[in-house]
Amino acid sequence: MENGERTSIDAGGAAYITGQTSSTDFPTTSNAVQATPTTAPCTRPTDQQIIRPANMSSESPGRGMVVHPSADGTRVAVVNLMGRLYLEPARSPFDMAPDLVARAREQADAVIVDFHAEATSEKVAMGRMLAGSATAVIGTHTHIQTNDPTVLPGGTAYLTDAGMTGPHDSVIGVRSDLIVRRFVTGLPVRFEPGEGDVRLEGALIECDGQGRATAISTFRLRESE
Ligand SMILES: [Fe+2]
Repeated sequence: MENGERTSIDAGGAAYITGQTSSTDFPTTSNAVQATPTTAPCTRPTDQQIIRPANMSSESPGRGMVVHPSADGTRVAVVNLMGRLYLEPARSPFDMAPDLVARAREQADAVIVDFHAEATSEKVAMGRMLAGSATAVIGTHTHIQTNDPTVLPGGTAYLTDAGMTGPHDSVIGVRSDLIVRRFVTGLPVRFEPGEGDVRLEGALIECDGQGRATAISTFRLRESE
């Protein structure tokens, strides 16, 4: 899809990213592709269907924290927060995080904080602030996997950025020639996804029965592996 707009849910409860595409073989329905906020045949997703930063406006659909049982029954909470540099959260993530993590702790055995932020300083500071309360603070948004996995005092695994699952023969996911042209000319371009060197990247976290992290390591799997 060249121009994603929003997430919509069809009558069967399936979720779609909607927008426009010139592709004739894109695997979605015409309904979903044509959906717009004014003529939508699809509905807005419900709060249960979307996890979004907890510090967005309360008008935004979705929830900032979910608790889900893992395969062995361990209850895992995921808290999502957004940084302030170049982003526009309605509220400070630093103001909200301690209470949010405390509430997640009451409902879950392990608490993972996904901190979606541009600045490494914001991410490191969030990790330090939540050291000893969250099981893990993992940064996202900058797409480049960082080489700083560590377990902070109190048993909080930390990583500045988990990396990107997608085509790495690109500029953080978008075709390189388009982004280079955008920087050279200063003119807007329509984003199209890159294709080559598809990788799956992320982090593996181990924790004890109290939800305290004991180890963290990064992983990177290429298509050929
Ligand atoms: Fe992002």
